[in-house]
Amino acid sequence: MAERTSDAKVPPADAPSEAAAREARRLREALHRHAYLYYAEARPEISDAEYDRLFARLQALEEADPALRTPDSPTQRVGAEPQDAFETVRHVAPMLSLDSSQEEEAVRRFDERLRKALEHPPEYLLEPKLDGASIELVYEDGVLIRAVTRGNGQRGEDVTENIRTIASVPLRLRDARPSPRRLAVRGEVMMTVSAFERFNERLLESDQEPYASPRNSAAGAIRQLDSRLTAERELVCFAYDVLLVEGDRFRRDRDAFEALGEWGFLRPERVEVVDSVDAIVAYHGRTAEERDDLDYEIDGVVIKLDDLDARADLGATSHHPRWAMAFKFEPRKEVTRVERIAISVGRTGILTPVALLLPVQVGGVTISRASLHNREEVARKDVREGDRVRIQRAGDVIPQVVERIEEPDRERAAPFRMPDTCPACGTPVVEDGPRTVCPNRFGCPAQLKGRLVHFGSRNALDIEGLGEETAALLVDRGLVRELADLFDLVPEQLVDLPGFAEKSATNLVAGIRRRTSVE
Ligand code: IVH
Repeated sequence: MAERTSDAKVPPADAPSEAAAREARRLREALHRHAYLYYAEARPEISDAEYDRLFARLQALEEADPALRTPDSPTQRVGAEPQDAFETVRHVAPMLSLDSSQEEEAVRRFDERLRKALEHPPEYLLEPKLDGASIELVYEDGVLIRAVTRGNGQRGEDVTENIRTIASVPLRLRDARPSPRRLAVRGEVMMTVSAFERFNERLLESDQEPYASPRNSAAGAIRQLDSRLTAERELVCFAYDVLLVEGDRFRRDRDAFEALGEWGFLRPERVEVVDSVDAIVAYHGRTAEERDDLDYEIDGVVIKLDDLDARADLGATSHHPRWAMAFKFEPRKEVTRVERIAISVGRTGILTPVALLLPVQVGGVTISRASLHNREEVARKDVREGDRVRIQRAGDVIPQVVERIEEPDRERAAPFRMPDTCPACGTPVVEDGPRTVCPNRFGCPAQLKGRLVHFGSRNALDIEGLGEETAALLVDRGLVRELADLFDLVPEQLVDLPGFAEKSATNLVAGIRRRTSVE
């Protein structure tokens, strides 16, 4: 090998990083492309292991030279340092909500109004109404620069770091279509039903409060101050509306929808264009039937005028556009059997009869309890143990027993009666209108447990690890006799409790202590 001579060309100092920059760019492009194929088109070309290998290589390059790290790098999806609070920012274009109805008649009136107002008979774009959390995504020269929650429609919270973690949100638009100078897109962040059930199971196992619906969980996830927690929640984002575009133009919504696909967004499935109310009603019926085959929740269909110029002419009221409406589904119902009627004593002492059900899937979510509200409701519906009942779940509310189903040949149990004494403390109950109440305000362990759980819940002090099981343990073991005792707990009292170990005991006490000072 030739000796290096003094006049041999010395590579410039930044040569290796130029090569690294090239490699990093190639890796970013490859990773964007493969993520798009995987998440938006569901037809991956490489294995997960190969994807991970490319990802790890890019991560290594960026670690060696942080200057290589661009905001649209796929490595930026893993979550950033926790923030103290979200900044409130103005939307690029207002995010209105939709007028909605469950009635076919309302759809007919909507169509008639448009026919009167328009020069041409309307064509409608029909889409499933996704039951998630809506979000505005802003791109400049093809790069995601901001993501904002709906907030009050005019202003929302800047949750960009969290939204970056969602694999189906393009960090950079694909170049199948030129990137506009500025683009604002509206989409819906969703949690799949299967991811939701897995997530809730994990919460229950660690004695945390489960979420009521995939929508709540998705909305909670995008408002986490620590985006690493958002990243764990397996969210997807469907894009359905171009709010603003500078440097491109659409005449019809279907063209904008097409463009969203070319830019690499995941879009709602089953979108159709129709020109009559009958076709809308048929679509609504079909979609309602197919609803349970989807792994995400929809609660109706959205009807939108396709002609964008006509939309601009029609305008909006202060709340919703005149060119669109939501045609909602009836709440979901299912039939099952009441195994037992239990009494739950809440934190305010109210006794609620709860139907413990043979578990049944309602829209993909397993339901095993439903509220019977109060004494009068049970009497009115005449629900008894062993009866077949129809139950209903609408959005986030607790499942309800709608009605009893007659079974003429079946022998029924005795009519249900509320107990005379509180099942938790034995105090004689009192009646307060249709309600039955345990008056033992300060001595009833069930009320105390309810207060503890409420205290620890996300809407109150948000103490991690203070769920139903822990509250019950603390009260039953006499460690907490009134709410204030919570703040005197020390880890040593907890370590030997079932389900606790040193770490969980210290964590719970630390979680409580964090709340002793007002932030
Ligand atoms: S279009 C101006 N399309 O439903 C309204 N909205 O109250 C344009 N939603 O929170 C919205 N799926 O985020 C549209 N396919 C869809 C939708 C959809 C869900 C949400 C929207 C809003 C709510 C309407």
